[in-house]
Amino acid sequence: MHQPPITTASGIPVADNQNSASAGPRGPLLLQDFHLIEKLQHFNRERIPERVVHAKGSGAYGTFTVTHDISRYTKAKLFAGVGKQTATFVRFSTVGGERGSADTERDPRGFAVRFYTEEGNWDLVGNNTPMFFIKDPIKFPDFVHTQKRDPQTNLKSATMMFDFWSKAPESLHQVTMLFSDRGTPDGYRHMDGFGSHTYSLINAAGEKVYVKWHFKTRQGIRNLSAAEAARLAGSDPDYAQRDLFGAIADGRFPQWEVKLQVATEQQLAEWEARTGWNPFDLTKVWPHHDFPLLPVGVLELNRNPDNYHAEVEQAAFSPANAVPGMGYSPDKMLQGRLFAYHDAQLYRVGTNHQHLPVNAPRCPFHNHQRDGAMAIQNGGAAPNYATVAAEGSHPSGLGHGEPALALHGGAGRYDGRGKEDDYTQAGNLFRLLPAQERQNLFDNLAGPLSQVPQEIVQRQLALFDRADPAYGAGVRAALKVKGVNIA
Ligand code: HEM
Repeated sequence: MHQPPITTASGIPVADNQNSASAGPRGPLLLQDFHLIEKLQHFNRERIPERVVHAKGSGAYGTFTVTHDISRYTKAKLFAGVGKQTATFVRFSTVGGERGSADTERDPRGFAVRFYTEEGNWDLVGNNTPMFFIKDPIKFPDFVHTQKRDPQTNLKSATMMFDFWSKAPESLHQVTMLFSDRGTPDGYRHMDGFGSHTYSLINAAGEKVYVKWHFKTRQGIRNLSAAEAARLAGSDPDYAQRDLFGAIADGRFPQWEVKLQVATEQQLAEWEARTGWNPFDLTKVWPHHDFPLLPVGVLELNRNPDNYHAEVEQAAFSPANAVPGMGYSPDKMLQGRLFAYHDAQLYRVGTNHQHLPVNAPRCPFHNHQRDGAMAIQNGGAAPNYATVAAEGSHPSGLGHGEPALALHGGAGRYDGRGKEDDYTQAGNLFRLLPAQERQNLFDNLAGPLSQVPQEIVQRQLALFDRADPAYGAGVRAALKVKGVNIA
């Protein structure tokens, strides 16, 4: 490959990039060798903090194409007309491991999709699972600490994980999914994605529906066995990165069908009355037989980033990024996330992280945010203040014409423990698994459970029993094979 002559960062041609300037051939180095100093200084500053979760990931650009009209539900312009295309950027990730950790770890997978729409960036920052471990963001830092390293040993700890899960029955649904075959997907192309939370859509008449987003892989679901995942973790820790990059480089562009579950407020109220499940509880799913999937479009990934650090490491997604025609919901986890991402990125990437090409909107934007480190798109000569009468200062409902949200009850801290059903949906997922997959679930659980204190095992088994007696019995039997006898 032709390499242009080297310059300093300021564009000055470098005379010699191989020999530092020294006082005599063996002498100490000269402070005036600015090129040497700049090179060493920049090298020392190459790292930015890794994401506090989802640190290891892979990204790709693509296209979203509308295949079905959903304008009755949303006025969002990216859906205006079958055939309409919107540029996207997607980042897949594991969750608990560090930047260099193995791609095949048993872990949920992040599935973050950015749509560069003409009315700003819409980020759907989801996972490959439709539910989550907890339902209140106040527990998130504690939960994540159990997935990271023990503060003293610096080792991952099954005891920390199951100590937390066994005291948080709401986690059982996702724990069941995590320890099933779906906990070790075969790369990123062979898994589904989910927005997971309940979001809202608003149409041109100002009517609101609640929705859940789904991405169904056209490559087919494929998972790794626990043994294969463990083997790959040692022999090819970057297995998923290699697979995604290679497929796109070869022109085998992965695709997902984008689908939607839709419900009116009234339908959700009736569903809650019938099932007892809060439709805004992230540990629950909306069963497809109650809310069928509607087709919306196709997501295709068709271009590898040129530069991993600039485009993938510095990518900054936020669930708060919703465009006109879309809204949030009272899901407490979503509410916590609306704050957490931008805040994390102010620290991780910097004050002006939205100025970087991968994060910048691809439509005009105007506001009065100015200055700060690395201000690249700083508004030029335009005024740096808004007047009260300036456009965009006319409040209309919550945002983007969304009707006001009716509230119930007083402000306070509400403890749902013992009052909410955290077992039926976990049991339903268990009962859905074919015999071999149930056995894999038992074995996958028995591995880490055989390493934790009996008291924790007992507590966790009691949760399995409540979901389905066959679940608890299966894990007990698998533990026995490992020499752990539990009454
Ligand atoms: C990344 C917080 C729940 C999916 C992150 C990051 C933070 C965070 C701080 C790093 C952001 C960055 O540095 O760019 C939280 C909090 C949660 C929560 C406080 C709960 C209250 C969830 C849930 C999902 C999810 C429920 C999926 C449904 C992701 C994904 C990423 C991420 C996919 C990586 C995005 C990327 O690829 O850059 N989370 N998270 N998180 N989170 Fe969450």
